[in-house]
Order: sequence, then C-alpha cells, then structure tokens
Amino acid sequence: MNNSIIPINDVVLVLSDNVRAYKTGLIITNGATFEECQDADEKLNKIEGSVQWWRGDLLNFAEQKYGQMYSQFLDEDKRNYSTLRIQKWVASKFELLRRRNNLSWSHHYEVADLEPEEQDELLDRAEDEGWNRNKMRKQVRLFKQHKLIAANVEATRENERYSLMVGDFMDEMEQLDSESIAAIITDPPYEEKYIPLYEDLAKMAARVLKPGGSLIVMTGQYHLPQVLERMILYLDYQWTLAYLTPGGQSPQIWARKVNTFWKPVLWFVKGRYEGNWIGDVCTSPTNMNDKRFHEWGQSEEGMAELVERFTLPGDLILDPFCGGGTTGVVALQLGRRFIGIDEKEAAIEMTAARLCNIIKE
Ligand SMILES: C[S@@+](CC[C@H](N)C(=O)[O-])C[C@H]1O[C@@H](n2cnc3c(N)ncnc32)[C@H](O)[C@@H]1O
Repeated sequence: MNNSIIPINDVVLVLSDNVRAYKTGLIITNGATFEECQDADEKLNKIEGSVQWWRGDLLNFAEQKYGQMYSQFLDEDKRNYSTLRIQKWVASKFELLRRRNNLSWSHHYEVADLEPEEQDELLDRAEDEGWNRNKMRKQVRLFKQHKLIAANVEATRENERYSLMVGDFMDEMEQLDSESIAAIITDPPYEEKYIPLYEDLAKMAARVLKPGGSLIVMTGQYHLPQVLERMILYLDYQWTLAYLTPGGQSPQIWARKVNTFWKPVLWFVKGRYEGNWIGDVCTSPTNMNDKRFHEWGQSEEGMAELVERFTLPGDLILDPFCGGGTTGVVALQLGRRFIGIDEKEAAIEMTAARLCNIIKE
C-alpha cells in the first residue's frame, strides 16, 4: 500500500506495532509476523461484533449526561437514524454484566423486548444449545406465542363482538345463517393442492353473504387462472387489488423466475356492489410479514387497510381461514364484529388470546 496517500495522523486504531488501521485501509509494515496478522484478524472480528454495543452505550451515556444535546449524535445525514436508535435501545436493555460474550449483538436484539429474566432464560438456552441468529429468532417467536396464550388460558371463544370455531371451513360455515355476513376477508393457503378449496369457499360465501356483500380473498399468483375460473362459478368477479409487500424479505418464485413484491387480492360480490369507491392498492409495511402469531401471518397494518376499505363499523366480518387471527384483531380494533374459523386448534387458541387482549384494552 502506498503510504503517501494516507495522512499518517489519521490513524484510527493501532492493532499492533506493525498493523495500523486508517479510515480507508490497513497499513501493514514488512516486519509484521504471521502471528501479528492473526492477532489483528481476531481483533477486527471482535470490533465488528462490538461496535453496535459501543455505539448504544455511547448514546445512552450522552443522553443521561447531556440530555437532549445527545440527539446531535443521531445526525440523520451521517448515519442511519433508526439503526442508531435500535443500538441505543438494545444497550439500554442489558447492563454490562448480562451481556454474553459467546453470543452476538443480534442474539441480544432478538430478546430485547422481553422481561430481564426471560431474556436470561433464552440467552442461556442459546448458549447451551448453540443457536444461530435464525434459530434464536424462531425460538423467541415460539416463546412469545406461548406467553400470550398462557396469559389468556381462559380466553373466551364466544363474545358479543366475536365468535371462533375450530373445524373445516365447509362444516363450520354450514352453521352460519344465510345472508348474515357483511364481508368475508380471508387469506387461505396458496399451494396447488388447495385450488378446489377456493371453489368451495365461493360456493359457501354465496349463501352466507348479505346481498351486495363482498368476498375478499388474498391469494398467490401461481395458480391464479385456475382459482378465478372456479370462483366465478358462484359469485360475480368485481376487481383485483394489489397488496404490496415491499422489502428484501419478499419471496422468490424460482419456477417462474420472479421476485415478487405484491400479491393479488381478489374481490367478488354477491349480486350488485352498492358500497363506497375503492382504491385498488394496499400496502403492508416494508418487510412486515408478521410471523409472531402464525407462520403465514399477515401484518395488522395491511389487513386493516382491507377491513377499513370494505366494511363499516358494526359490520360482521368472517375469516374462514383465520390462522393467528390478524383479520379478527383489526376488525375489533376498528369497531367491527368478527367470526373466525380455522381447522387448527392452535390457531384458534392464538386468535382467542389476541382477541381477548383487545377486548380487555
Ligand atoms: C395463510 S393462513 C392464515 C394466516 C392469517 N391470515 C394470519 O394473519 O395469521 C391459512 C390458515 O388456513 C387454515 N386452513 C387450511 N385449510 C383449512 C380448512 N379446510 N378449513 C379451515 N381452515 C383451514 C390453516 O390452518 C391456516 O391457519
């Protein structure tokens, strides 16, 4: 490396006698031994894994000592504001003695919003069982699900604002009164083997929907022609909305060579639609495919857009594939009533726990 292009006073870090770090590179003199290089490599690894902690600690110190002046550190032009805020928050959640040397900052980030003893329990297990970050994230999700359910063991499934049923949607929808539902808003499974399910859904919907009521079905692109073909046998096709799912976590559809950033929401009507004008694009927040309550869960923000657009306060909404209950959660939050069906007991248990929490609020 050419020494002359780096101002020698700008050294950032002395890694050893012969290895110095500058903003744009390392300067290693010819005298550097192999061990010195190894040692420098180890130090760099440590630095990489520690910067987030250091930055967080610095921001917390500056806030405590200098009050609002600390926000100068968060200068948006220089660094990513939200990254710094997260670093500050995570550091504030773990005093030095509770930070684990053997685990990364990201492991700590995953449990930062839990109670301290819960954090310790999960960090202990991560250390003992050698969890990587992905495994940690999955285990934390399971832990939160169990916690929510445990807090609502007696979560009621029947209430004046909602009702939940376990079973096949065909059998359960059979129990509902004809023309009793204002809108069905749902997100069934998308794989090929489920194509016939869409026809059954349209058939059942044609009975339980009020005249002019809407069936709003989120689905994949892959089998769209077959799905449409079957559904229009029973209901009138009205439109397709685009449900945008922006962000780097969007799925890659290998067989079609597509990176997908939206999914179709099919809109069918029983008879003639007499409601409000509808915008045909909805957006889930970036990378917010919310899997906390169900492995295929949708975000509350995205589902809220659909519920608001297609129903009015007081309306009765049905989701016959309710999963972790996201449609129900936003339905209640927005003053609607809700019926949820799922064939999985665990899904209804989770939905009951979430809805119970909302009723208590
Ligand atoms: C894509 S998930 C729904 C996720 C939900 N939107 C959420 O945000 O949590 C589809 C659900 O349909 C349920 N399901 C699949 N086939 C069913 C059937 N025949 N009857 C009732 N539920 C069914 C599955 O158990 C699963 O929970």
